[in-house]
Amino acid sequence: MKNIDWKSLAFGYIKTDYNVRCYYRDGKWGELEVSSSEQITMHMAATCLHYGQEAFEGLKAFRGKDGKIRIFRWRENWKRMVHSAQGIMMAEVTEEVFKSAVFKAIKMNEEYVPPYGTGGALYIRPLLIGTGEKVGVKPADEYLFMVFVTPVGPYFKEGFRPVRAQLVKDYDRVAPLGTGTYKVGGNYAASLRPGERAHEEGFATCLFLEAKEKKYIDEAGPANFFGIKNNTYVTPDSPSILPSITNKSLRVIAEELGLKVERRHITVDELSTFEEAGACGTAAVISPIGEIVDRDTGHSYKFGKEGTPGPWSTKLYETLRGIQYGEIEDKHNWCDII
Ligand code: PLP
Ligand code: COI
Repeated sequence: MKNIDWKSLAFGYIKTDYNVRCYYRDGKWGELEVSSSEQITMHMAATCLHYGQEAFEGLKAFRGKDGKIRIFRWRENWKRMVHSAQGIMMAEVTEEVFKSAVFKAIKMNEEYVPPYGTGGALYIRPLLIGTGEKVGVKPADEYLFMVFVTPVGPYFKEGFRPVRAQLVKDYDRVAPLGTGTYKVGGNYAASLRPGERAHEEGFATCLFLEAKEKKYIDEAGPANFFGIKNNTYVTPDSPSILPSITNKSLRVIAEELGLKVERRHITVDELSTFEEAGACGTAAVISPIGEIVDRDTGHSYKFGKEGTPGPWSTKLYETLRGIQYGEIEDKHNWCDII
């Protein structure tokens, strides 16, 4: 095990020993290559640099109670990466290439998987970029797929404690018929300015509205949104949000815990009726939201008892974490042991 202060891990980059790469040339994927360099070199006219041909994924591996390393729902991340590749016309990574690269990156950096009980995880970042040169606006002929890993702690410094979110109307992250369902860099570029402003104004994250009607909640910068009321888990149905694997899993867990599940529009006004609210994602896990402030009107929506996560959010969080750390039976075979 590496000499790292596991309990103080934040969500950031720590160098590990190896990363894995695979090049797409002449219409096919080559052999996996293992590298210990953190650098990549590419043509200055590579399409990822000019025309945003770039997609990434984020998934986690956990050291369980039994000492085994579990990876959570990697096949879902592979499918979403294929969806992103199709969306911006990149070569599709095959299931075999994706799986071998991810598993190899974890195995080779096994000593960086945080010990059980520290709350940390190994964050896995697959990346697909257009490396072939084009000066006209066209998809590249060559691609690089790579996977690096880094040990992480909580995404929001609050951990599993309520955060404040800022509802923004003067920025859109994506357009309704745009790239919102793809995990591509451009969406995150569009979220940087409102996201940093939210931080400066005292919020952990911002919440975006569906851009056409400007009436419905879409999602947070790095996570999906959910609200809970009347024993019902409610989460937005929108063509412009990332289909979150965490959210998909929480909908199953919610039903098993006895909640009803609804995927539908959530208007800004409806926020005042929720008993609990939260942001969910691989990095965020569940971040309970204690307050949402509408930046436009100054209106504040508060959820639950100040400073304490709500009872349903707590149960959802504990069940999801329990499955990931091998404490609770993995009925749906969501985890693969490395
Ligand atoms: N929404 C956005 C914009 C994200 O970046 C993420 C993170 O991946 C999510 C939602 C959550 O998705 P997942 O649960 O698959 O990590
Ligand atoms: C994730 O949850 O994996 C994300 O990608 C969110 C953010 C770090 C971009």
